[in-house]
Amino acid sequence: MVEIRIESIAATEKFALELTKRVGPGSILCLTGDLGAGKTTLVRALLKGLGVREVVKSPTYTLVNEYHVPRLIYHFDLYRIHNPWEVLDIGFDDYLKPEAIVIIEWADRIEELIPKGALWIRLSYGDTQTSRIFKVEES
Ligand SMILES: Nc1ncnc2c1ncn2[C@@H]1O[C@H](COP(=O)(O)OP(=O)(O)OP(=O)(O)O)[C@@H](O)[C@H]1O
Ligand SMILES: [Mg+2]
Repeated sequence: MVEIRIESIAATEKFALELTKRVGPGSILCLTGDLGAGKTTLVRALLKGLGVREVVKSPTYTLVNEYHVPRLIYHFDLYRIHNPWEVLDIGFDDYLKPEAIVIIEWADRIEELIPKGALWIRLSYGDTQTSRIFKVEES
C-alpha cells in the first residue's frame, strides 16, 4: 500500500495524470471515500488525460457512463447501490471486458464483485480544506 499526501486540487489532477500511465485495457480502478473526498474530481482529470473531451457527469442515477476515446471506458458511480445484486441486475460482469477501462466510484459497495488485480484508491480528508490522503493498493 502506498500513501500519498495531496495538498491541493491541482495535486489531485497531477496524480490523475500520472495514473493515466497505469491504466489501459482491462484495468479496473476502484475509488472509495466519503462524500466530497474527491473521487469525481480525480475521475474527471483522469478521463481528460485519457482523451475524453466532453463534460464528465457523475452517473449517480444511471449508474454507468460510457466513453469511447477511442478506448472504451466505463465510469460507475454506485453511491445509490446498497446491495451488490442491484449491480448484477444491470449486467455488471458484462462491463468487465478485457478491452475496457472500468472506473468505479463507491466500489466498496460491491467489494465482493471486484476481481483480483484491481487498483484501489481510498481517498480521505486531510487536515486542511484542500488536503487529502490517497491510499493506493492493488487488490
Ligand atoms: N485536493 C482535492 N482534491 C479533490 N477535490 C478537492 C480537493 N480539495 C478540495 N476539493 C473539493 O472537494 C470536492 C470534491 O468533490 P467530488 O465531487 O470530487 O467528490 P466525490 O468524492 O466524488 O463526492 P461524491 O461521493 O459526493 O460524489 C470538490 O468541491 C473539490 O473542489
Ligand atoms: Mg462523485
